[in-house]
Amino acid sequence: MYKDMPVISDEEVEQALWFSMEQVVRNLPEFTHKFQNAYSENGFYQPIENQEWTTGFWTGEIWLAYEYAKEKEARDQAISGNSEILKKAGEIQVASFLNRIEKKIDVDHHDMGFLYSPSCVAAYKLTGNTDARRAAILAADQLITRYHPVGEFIQAWGPMDAPENYRLIIDCLLNLPLLYWASEETGDDKYRQIAEKHIHTAIRNVIREDYSTWHTFFFDRKTGAPDHGATWQGYRDGSAWARGQAWGIYGCALAYKYTKREEYIEVFRHVTQYFLEHLPADMVPFWDLEFTDGEEQPRDSSSASIAACGILEMIKSMEEKEAAVYEKYARQMMKSLYDFYAVKEPEASNGLVLHSTYSNHSPYNGCNHCGVDECNSWGDYYYMEAMMRLHKEWIMYW
Ligand code: GLY
Repeated sequence: MYKDMPVISDEEVEQALWFSMEQVVRNLPEFTHKFQNAYSENGFYQPIENQEWTTGFWTGEIWLAYEYAKEKEARDQAISGNSEILKKAGEIQVASFLNRIEKKIDVDHHDMGFLYSPSCVAAYKLTGNTDARRAAILAADQLITRYHPVGEFIQAWGPMDAPENYRLIIDCLLNLPLLYWASEETGDDKYRQIAEKHIHTAIRNVIREDYSTWHTFFFDRKTGAPDHGATWQGYRDGSAWARGQAWGIYGCALAYKYTKREEYIEVFRHVTQYFLEHLPADMVPFWDLEFTDGEEQPRDSSSASIAACGILEMIKSMEEKEAAVYEKYARQMMKSLYDFYAVKEPEASNGLVLHSTYSNHSPYNGCNHCGVDECNSWGDYYYMEAMMRLHKEWIMYW
């Protein structure tokens, strides 16, 4: 499969990181006291307050750019200044995240990991910022309030007593590392125990027999028994929403990292295989894996970066030979993104990667039409993360 597709070289990885770092720095005047919106409009992000589930990705880009700039400055004293500028901007954003969680501004949902891992856990790991640590622990406290002990899962959206919301979504697997981190930091095992329960419930239910995935899954409120799967952002209930499948790939890699359950490596293999087998020729998926070459449908470039990150995490626990096979897939996807999807000129966009899809309405799903065929903040973030993973032994923010 894909054996003739080129792989990204180390030099191209450097070029991608260098451009990304400079693009982040160019964005700081507009996006230090504000955040990038979830998606661009005609290629350009508009500034927003610290709201929505997505603002952590922009802060995460700042920290990735900081790491990269610092490394370059340490090697070459002539390159100056960017790391300090980035660090100051990151600290301003961390203060905003602390304020957000203390005042509970738009935190009544499960996306605490997406918000607080790449922003505050990252800041704490990189700089020892104690406000960041405090904010991330408060976010973990907030996240566990959404746990349902009967169903043994964390509810994604909506009021906790609303029957129509008694469900988990596959994306939540990425919110759980925050809980493992909180247990490690505080010595209190309650966060880890909840994360573990959710992982088992999620993986048992969102993965279908053919290893495609449900976006969301409902349970019986009284007994906690599995009820049914449904999509929200995918094309239709039985299809595989591309980003859901990609969250599944990265989610399984993280599930294995934190639980060390061997069965999750096997699930990872199958879920990844399904994704790879449903890619178009350039290895960057359409927004739903139902679609392929020749169809007039938008891409979701962010899914390729998310999948590459998951693969690059999982291969750390694989035998050399198998790891090399998977690394090649990741390098091929990143090469395609770098050559055909990445922004090359700041005049064209203030983002990093074009042709992503946030939410595409179909006759069979319930979501709005927004951020279609644009950059989006997690697409940019995971593109940088994947490049960073290819560049060095990266210490995860997750
Ligand atoms: N977590 C929501 C999304 O991926 O769009």
